[in-house]
Amino acid sequence: MQRMDIPLAAAGTPLLTLTDASVVYPDGTVGLARTSTVFAAGAFCVLLGPSGAGKSTLLRSLNGLVPLSSGSVTVEGIGPLLRSADWRLHRRRTGMVFQQHQLIGRLSVLRNVLTGRIAFSSTLRSLWPASIADRRIALHALDRVGLPEAALRRADQLSGGQQQRVGIARALAQQPRLLLADEPVASLDPATAARVLELLQGICRESGISVVVSLHQVELARRFADRVLGVRAGRIVFDGPPAALDDRALHAVYGTEGEAARNEPPAASRERPAFDGTGPLSVAA
Ligand SMILES: Nc1ncnc2c1ncn2[C@@H]1O[C@H](COP(=O)(O)OP(=O)(O)OP(=O)(O)O)[C@@H](O)[C@H]1O
Ligand SMILES: [Mg+2]
Repeated sequence: MQRMDIPLAAAGTPLLTLTDASVVYPDGTVGLARTSTVFAAGAFCVLLGPSGAGKSTLLRSLNGLVPLSSGSVTVEGIGPLLRSADWRLHRRRTGMVFQQHQLIGRLSVLRNVLTGRIAFSSTLRSLWPASIADRRIALHALDRVGLPEAALRRADQLSGGQQQRVGIARALAQQPRLLLADEPVASLDPATAARVLELLQGICRESGISVVVSLHQVELARRFADRVLGVRAGRIVFDGPPAALDDRALHAVYGTEGEAARNEPPAASRERPAFDGTGPLSVAA
């Protein structure tokens, strides 16, 4: 029988388990090399690692945006995600926040947030004006991110930081159990970046929503994470609390680039090196 909804899992219990998961892109590039890990409910987990390490691949494999080449994803309340119906159910309760917000600029902020409700409507229903219940959920989400007064403004009239908060509100409108954010603060100034992470951390603490965020700033990971996963060459090479993120751990994650990582290079200066198919990324899939 198709389950229509799944509640939040109890804090600290496994929410999502990745088992022997690997991702090999069609051109043969290995984005994720045979990885197993468990994401606990209600935890704020930060993915760190150099450019091209596999942070986005890992993050996107958690909601099937990037399909696994082998291995499995098991979600509390659903089980192993085998059928497309399992994935749909999981995705419906998994919000995604992007670096560039991906808002529709000419639409109102409220309309943008309401798109977070689309997965809950039938195709026919989504063509009609939003229901009062959905509007209430969207307005509540806007209130949660501190932008209730912006509901009727055009999305492209807001600042970058405000737009990112709308992106978070849109994800919250899904009433997620899991929130995935891929470099959500990469294009924001340091103070705004900290405020956005503070918001995500507050949501995690107060609502029990599990959050997984990829970042390039070690200091922000130290400040906000409950758990840090250090990714390098498609593998998790560090897994621990931020307090354990010492020079040795940073070296394991960043190698000789460790110093540069600590100096927090601006996002625009980073290049994505292509994996050349050699070295430690060869996977026994
Ligand atoms: N669509 C794709 N096709 C082929 N290779 C890809 C694709 N997407 C990513 N890759 C490669 O997979 C590896 C991991 O990339 P990924 O984007 O996950 O790294 P990342 O840690 O998120 O990097 P960044 O910090 O630059 O965002 C890299 O070698 C990258 O070039
Ligand atoms: Mg990335």
